Amino acid sequence: MHFELVDPLDHRELLEGCLEVARERMGTCHRNRVIKTLKLHKKRLLVLARDSGGVAGFKLGFCERPGIFNSWLGAVALAQEGNGIGRRLMELQHEHLAEQGYHMVRTGTRNQFKRMLILNLLNGFELVGIRQKKSGPHLQLEKRLTPVVRSPENNQESP
Ligand SMILES: CC(C)(COP(=O)(O)OP(=O)(O)OC[C@H]1O[C@@H](n2cnc3c(N)ncnc32)[C@H](O)[C@@H]1OP(=O)(O)O)[C@@H](O)C(=O)NCCC(=O)NCCS
Repeated sequence: MHFELVDPLDHRELLEGCLEVARERMGTCHRNRVIKTLKLHKKRLLVLARDSGGVAGFKLGFCERPGIFNSWLGAVALAQEGNGIGRRLMELQHEHLAEQGYHMVRTGTRNQFKRMLILNLLNGFELVGIRQKKSGPHLQLEKRLTPVVRSPENNQESP
């Protein structure tokens, strides 16, 4: 399994594969609406897992405001569930965000996505609010990221 971190708007074919997984796991996921939202944000990040069978899972989000990342959509293909892919995608996302200087990651989920809720809580997210929506309660979560302290040697460019 390969894990990659890319700008989703520069890799439309990979994004399309991710949206297929999202449709399988979450029902509808409208491509044009996703692209429209991504275009509203200058900094975007798609973390994905894929193998010869195609995209196995992904996490997609964007910079909401300086230092704060919104982890917006994510799913793992049903055939790959329980293999540690969701957890690894999250680790890679958080490592990268901390390295990029983000201090917080926000996300939201619903009661029906229990695996995601549990995974978030196990990985340091805290429940910070509940928004009542037509479709039911939307649970808001946040996690503070540990800043990456760079030693002077790490800041030097390699020769
Ligand atoms: C949520 C999701 C991404 C998790 O992906 P995954 O690859 O299956 O996750 P992992 O295999 O890394 O395991 C997640 C870990 O969460 C924990 N966990 C998940 N469900 C659990 C449960 N019912 N009880 C206890 N722990 C649980 C476990 O620690 C688990 O690891 P383990 O099974 O090795 O013990 C995937 O289930 C999914 O796509 N769900 C449907 C779509 C979805 O919920 N999207 C999010 C919408 S907001």
